[in-house]
Amino acid sequence: MCGSGLRPREDETALAAQAERILRGNDVGDYTKPSPRLYPHQWNWDSAFIAIGWAHLDWERATREVTSLLRGQWVEGMIPHIRYNRAWLSGYFPGPEWWPGGHVRRRDELTSGISQPPVLASAVLRVGLAQPDAAKRLGWWGEVYAALLASLTYFSQHRVLGGSPLITVVHPWESGFDNSPRWDFALAAGARPSQRYRRIDSTIVDASLRPSDRDYDLYLYLAELLASQDYDLQRYIRRTPFAVYDTWFNAVWYRSAFDLNRVATALGQEAPFSAAELAGFAAAFRTTLWDEHHRAYLDFDLVGRRTIPVETCTSLMPIYAGLTSADEARALIARYRTRSAGCRLLPGCLPDQPGYEPRRYCRGPVWIHVNWTVIQGLRRLGCAAEARELVAETIDLVRETGFVECYDAETGAAAGARDFSWSAALVLDLLQPQQGASPDAEGPLEEGRGRW
Ligand code: SER
Repeated sequence: MCGSGLRPREDETALAAQAERILRGNDVGDYTKPSPRLYPHQWNWDSAFIAIGWAHLDWERATREVTSLLRGQWVEGMIPHIRYNRAWLSGYFPGPEWWPGGHVRRRDELTSGISQPPVLASAVLRVGLAQPDAAKRLGWWGEVYAALLASLTYFSQHRVLGGSPLITVVHPWESGFDNSPRWDFALAAGARPSQRYRRIDSTIVDASLRPSDRDYDLYLYLAELLASQDYDLQRYIRRTPFAVYDTWFNAVWYRSAFDLNRVATALGQEAPFSAAELAGFAAAFRTTLWDEHHRAYLDFDLVGRRTIPVETCTSLMPIYAGLTSADEARALIARYRTRSAGCRLLPGCLPDQPGYEPRRYCRGPVWIHVNWTVIQGLRRLGCAAEARELVAETIDLVRETGFVECYDAETGAAAGARDFSWSAALVLDLLQPQQGASPDAEGPLEEGRGRW
């Protein structure tokens, strides 16, 4: 199953050309549809990953992807998970009417009322570093810096509870892993929205690959509840069946805080997240989310006050964030590989876990963004052999199946939408030569190293 090492150059060139065709095909000017029909609007973390791909093709276009997303930012700083495009409202469910009273900064904006894993600041660091002209790079960072800072401090100010710095995720859609078996506990109460609804997603992609109707009942019930509580966590937490410390989300926030510090330093400003704040966050992360019994990082259910005992790919995300040592990262990866023997890597959920389904969305399939994030973490930690192996696995999968949303964990077959933008963008990134391409390479930020 392991990759076969070096690829003929022309093969990689053809793959890169195919990735570029997908990005250009899904480009609607200021943003890129995540996929042609299933996701017609602008999605938050999709655009962050997509911008990383655009930076290798057209740097100005990469910056527009970010600027467009920031137009939907709320007054408190939250970047919503969807910024709706009026031209496509009839082609997607649920629309903005499910998020009434949103605190949009610009009156003409239509957005959802929740966010998504905050990878944007890290993406902006990478996109900036892809620009060799320092004046252009710093000029753009200067334009987006305040909005990015507000998007991260939103979570540390408005999404914390009981003195912990960890961030509360309020909706499965916000976690980015909608129907992960980790969230099955919340289905038990059988919550349903007050309004009737009709799904569109399962008319575009086979229903067996999508979340179930029970999942959608919960998603829409929670959307109604959030709106009724004016999107205020302190009110929402008293009534909701779903509020979690998500390992992945918190790891991503930590990484972005770190990366935004680097941008600030490059701009000649003080790093906004102090060493003490980041150390406190890392300590809380480990104390709350490391589970000694499972020897894994696991999510925490804030309503039931218990660890959620389901192991999925997100338990590897501390590797991405720099919240593990190299030895710990190697051990986590080795254990995940052993437990998923016979699967394509990395399956979204370990096959020995309750609720695992190899083909259904976030319940088992392999996702390119998961592999890509783990690869970044392994590279940063100096686990070069492990990173190379995962790059080869990822490229093999894409070569066989194409740039789809996700891949059957056992066969590698397509298991979601076709022509998926972030799969194209991130493979384009993986195909770049290594030196200088990593934001952790020595380079324009060298002067800022070691300040936190
Ligand atoms: N991921 C959700 C969807 O499938 C919502 O963001 O539409």
